[in-house]
Amino acid sequence: MLYGAPMLIVLATKLKGDASDNSGYSNAATVIENLNLAAVELGLGACHIWGAIAALAEDDALKQALKIPEGFTPVGGLVVGDSADAYTKRDIPDNRIATEILD
Ligand SMILES: Cc1cc2nc3c(=O)[nH]c(=O)nc-3n(C[C@H](O)[C@H](O)[C@H](O)COP(=O)(O)O)c2cc1C
Repeated sequence: MLYGAPMLIVLATKLKGDASDNSGYSNAATVIENLNLAAVELGLGACHIWGAIAALAEDDALKQALKIPEGFTPVGGLVVGDSADAYTKRDIPDNRIATEILD
């Protein structure tokens, strides 16, 4: 689940349970993406992790053990470590993310 990585970075944010939480999720995702790009730049392997973090968010004992502050919800993470896999250039289709341009 965590690819045997030596490091898991957990992003946690305060959630209110309404639409304003989008900014918390977006902030966390932006941090994760920046860390991910920096890891690649350093020649490390990295992977955005959500599945294990969703489980962590439900587990109060584990949140406490990981020193997640009271009132904060883990919303995303990044595993980082040395990897034997090399990043290779890929062709990503232009329409991979559906886009609607309004004029
Ligand atoms: C929001 C988000 C959550 C993700 N959660 C997981 C995860 O829990 N486990 C995992 O192995 N990869 C996870 N990934 C990584 C993706 O599976 C994939 O490897 C990554 O987005 C790169 O895909 P690409 O190379 O096709 O662009 C997640 C990616 C994103 C953007």
